[in-house]
Amino acid sequence: MALLTIENLPGATIEVPAGTTLLAALQAAGHDWMHACGAKGRCTTCRLEVVAGLENLTPPTEAELRYRAAGRLLPHERLTCQARLPAGPVVGRVPAATQLPHQQYGETP
Ligand code: FES
Repeated sequence: MALLTIENLPGATIEVPAGTTLLAALQAAGHDWMHACGAKGRCTTCRLEVVAGLENLTPPTEAELRYRAAGRLLPHERLTCQARLPAGPVVGRVPAATQLPHQQYGETP
């Protein structure tokens, strides 16, 4: 179990159980997070900008590598429906383009 902190989503420091995707852990903790394709790795709306701890996430999946090759997923971004957190803490933020209109987001430091 390791900690995931979303710095522009107030209250979003959560524990991610081993083997659980970041998206599943965020939803289990009660956070609303865009995931247009239903966590199937077929969009990029669930992406997370990783600020620290990128090395603590599981390696990119085939879907993430495909979006990276197409320029739709930057090297410091991960799909929360694909990435899991096995090794240590991760800090990230919700990109402006995928913020939900009804959700309050904090300032990015
Ligand atoms: S929800 Fe579509 S790729 Fe993650």
